[in-house]
Amino acid sequence: MTEKYRATDPMSDLISDDYRMLQVISRFGMSFGFGDAKIDTVCKECGVDAPTFLAVVNFIRNGEYVKISELIDDVDVRALMDYLKHSHAYYINFRLPAIKRKLLEAMSVSSNQIAVLILKFYDEYAAEVSRHMEYENEYVHPYVEQLLEGRIPSSEHGFHALCHRHQDNHGSIERSSSELKNIIIKYYPSESNIQLLNDVLMDIYMMEEDMLSHCRLEDQLFAESVHRLEDEIRLKRPQEEYTPTHSQHESNNTLSDREKEVIIEVVKGLSNKEIAENMFISVNTVMTHRRNISKKLNIHSPAGLTIYAIVNGLVNLDEIKI
Ligand SMILES: [Fe+2]
Ligand SMILES: [Fe+2]
Repeated sequence: MTEKYRATDPMSDLISDDYRMLQVISRFGMSFGFGDAKIDTVCKECGVDAPTFLAVVNFIRNGEYVKISELIDDVDVRALMDYLKHSHAYYINFRLPAIKRKLLEAMSVSSNQIAVLILKFYDEYAAEVSRHMEYENEYVHPYVEQLLEGRIPSSEHGFHALCHRHQDNHGSIERSSSELKNIIIKYYPSESNIQLLNDVLMDIYMMEEDMLSHCRLEDQLFAESVHRLEDEIRLKRPQEEYTPTHSQHESNNTLSDREKEVIIEVVKGLSNKEIAENMFISVNTVMTHRRNISKKLNIHSPAGLTIYAIVNGLVNLDEIKI
């Protein structure tokens, strides 16, 4: 650990040293104006668990150099879960809609096809992030609630399985975010308000960084603290049956040449029947290719495939049908 804040450090130092702590403070439900008060004093006044707050602060501050073993003992699972819930509400209700509004303001959607495509892609990206966070709210957190009540749910959604899904979705969100930036940078719509579009691009970069940190926090600190909780309960109640479900996913996500050909046909606007005729294969085979493509890329719409094809150089802009 390179740097570690302590309970006796002034709260204001956190923000002076790292502006990202503004978000942490707000998501723990604390407001500003704490003068020179120390971290533990402010936490106590706001009803926040100070050790968990410090674990999150030190986790984010030290990035990839963080040692979970140095933080995990301080984490209160409920306090950390509340923090994650507030973060979800922030992204779904505020951050994602705010960026959409800015994109609409920056680009001339009525007269530019690439602007339409960018907005479509953004909507799909926002929906993907929202679906993921709603899944966590709906399945992961209630599972953890039951653990906190001393029970290990006997459903197939064991935390191992939930974690696998977590990590897969996190990777997919990261890829979509990166594609979104690429398409804006490479195909900047010419009629746009340049300053506004630069501004929204900066917002997307900052949101991406923030969300990456959120996902890492879930994959590492939260997952580890929940596993510990499960182990504690199992030790107390060894008679209870618990079988973790491991979802096995294909590790090979590389597209075959035939799958790339199918993508090119799809983004040209051809139907499955037309693709089958052009490629001398059956409609069923086309549908199998499309299912495999969706599975490998985690992209399920023609608009998403179009962006993928453009960003990866499979087609030129003038070949696509929007
Ligand atoms: Fe999350
Ligand atoms: Fe997540």
